[in-house]
Amino acid sequence: MLSVLMWALPLVVSGHLQVLTPPADDILRLTGTKGPYVDRLSQGLELDPPQGCSVEQVIMVMRHGARYPTANAYPDLQGALAKLENKTFSSGPLQFFNDWTPYVDNLGWLEQETFSGPYAGLLSAYQRGTEYRARYGHLWDGESIVPFWSSDSERVIMTARHFGEGFFGYNYSTNAALNIVSEAESQGANSLTPVCHAVDPKSGDVCSNLNVKQSYPLASVAADRLNKRYGLNLTGDDVYNLQQLAVFELNVRGDSPWLDAFTRDEWVAFNYYCGLDFFYCKGPGSAGSVAAGSVVANASLSLLQQGPSEHAQAGGKMYWNFSHDSDIVPILAALGLAYPDEKDVPYNGSIAFTAKYNAVDIMPMAGHVVFERLHCTEDTPAWSAGTYVRVILNEQVLPVQDCQNGPGFSCKLEDYIARAKKRLVDYNSFCKTPDDWQKHLSFWWNPNTTQQYNYQKGPIGYQQKTTLE
Ligand SMILES: *[C@@H]1O[C@H](CO)[C@@H](O)[C@H](O)[C@H]1NC(C)=O
Ligand SMILES: *[C@@H]1O[C@H](CO)[C@@H](O)[C@H](O)[C@H]1NC(C)=O
Ligand SMILES: *[C@@H]1O[C@H](CO)[C@@H](O)[C@H](O)[C@H]1NC(C)=O
Ligand SMILES: *[C@@H]1O[C@H](CO)[C@@H](O)[C@H](O)[C@H]1NC(C)=O
Ligand SMILES: *[C@@H]1O[C@H](CO)[C@@H](O)[C@H](O)[C@H]1NC(C)=O
Ligand SMILES: *[C@@H]1O[C@H](CO)[C@@H](O)[C@H](O)[C@H]1NC(C)=O
Ligand SMILES: *[C@@H]1O[C@H](CO)[C@@H](O)[C@H](O)[C@H]1NC(C)=O
Repeated sequence: MLSVLMWALPLVVSGHLQVLTPPADDILRLTGTKGPYVDRLSQGLELDPPQGCSVEQVIMVMRHGARYPTANAYPDLQGALAKLENKTFSSGPLQFFNDWTPYVDNLGWLEQETFSGPYAGLLSAYQRGTEYRARYGHLWDGESIVPFWSSDSERVIMTARHFGEGFFGYNYSTNAALNIVSEAESQGANSLTPVCHAVDPKSGDVCSNLNVKQSYPLASVAADRLNKRYGLNLTGDDVYNLQQLAVFELNVRGDSPWLDAFTRDEWVAFNYYCGLDFFYCKGPGSAGSVAAGSVVANASLSLLQQGPSEHAQAGGKMYWNFSHDSDIVPILAALGLAYPDEKDVPYNGSIAFTAKYNAVDIMPMAGHVVFERLHCTEDTPAWSAGTYVRVILNEQVLPVQDCQNGPGFSCKLEDYIARAKKRLVDYNSFCKTPDDWQKHLSFWWNPNTTQQYNYQKGPIGYQQKTTLE
């Protein structure tokens, strides 16, 4: 799979650094959000602030980087693999298997970000930090202590720390202050990862009934193809699991011979199937998710409205947040961003071939959404000097569909806030938040400013999920 590496890595050509963008059909865009980070498909808009504008405040929410399989998912992957045990494959798409070796060298690493090869999860967070220092470094005075926030998942914390090291460079140990916010349900609204008490986001009719047989029929075709050729006994679910195994191998090794065991059509269908979970279990197709996402979405509106000057602690200018896909997709859904409003995403085996349904374009590993408050000084016939909001999703400007009245297709601050407020769902009433859960998000406004959590203390536990250290 040389092609994967060639497209994704910077090539040094006679002294010039030339970064090649993956083409639209590159396999990295078909990994169902379980594989390495990819930028959102470009619409051609520039990332530089529009003419006459500067960024005066930035809020980011980022997913952890590429990781190993979770401890929950791993047994299924192993189960599919076990069906190939002791078989020999003299030729064809599984011939590589005779020499293939498993890549999870230490079962303790399940759940954690990967750390080797070009797609290492830890690397992408560090790189994001250095790139954002270049882009947003003007928002830091070089002296004040800047709080930043992570949910208490070990891999999310590590993402935050590596981002911080990238952003603050030699000042990380003195000027960054990591705040770790518990993922416990009783945090209620005061959380980066709010849980909807009354309506389990995973309980939607479609969500709880999603299955390979119905929604990914090509998996059975692939199973049949391999079974006939090799006398195997694979099911469609096994094919889905072997494809996941391939994608996670990319995260660990940067390449996987499994990629070629399946046809391009099968990858397209795999990718779409994975995206259905995002839509129906975490996104607009899940009412509980929209309510949970409304909490952080609402807090982001308050910050944008307050602006950079009102919050002295961090200069009020930078909010770097880290959590999970299952927390960020709901924020986008609550704000009505990225996904279309219509709810009838096909899950009967048909594929909606539009970028809006491609979860890779919304929340891949290390995916991130950035809200910029723009200070614009030029009057033009189309807009006046003032304050605008621009959304950037995975390094592409994402104009708000129903509000593009500012420079660079940004949206006037008041309009952005008004349209969002119309959409948000009241979390406490919709989710019937229990009395002993917290009702308001306050951690953004009362940050710690110590360095006590900036570094890992001691070893990372076996398959460690959460920690408050
Ligand atoms: C594969 O071969 C080994 C060694 O002969 C044996 O112990 C194991 O049970 C076999 N596995 C299967 C699934 O047949
Ligand atoms: C942090 O930055 C300040 C201002 O540039 C500098 O004086 C200080 O030495 C830096 N601290 C470290 C540990 O590099
Ligand atoms: C802030 O610091 C206090 C005291 O060390 C600690 O108990 C608390 O968990 C910290 N909160 C966050 C969000 O890091
Ligand atoms: C194939 O799997 C089915 C159940 O999934 C089982 O009933 C059958 O015995 C298996 N056949 C072989 C040849 O292993
Ligand atoms: C960033 O994290 C803080 C703390 O969890 C939260 O209040 C805020 O809403 C987050 N920002 C966004 C845009 O999610
Ligand atoms: C699947 O559902 C879509 C609408 O969601 C419909 O247009 C399409 O015809 C259906 N396909 C099949 C094979 O039933
Ligand atoms: C948004 O936050 C404000 C200020 O905390 C609060 O008054 C309002 O009820 C919240 N709205 C929703 C929909 O959560």
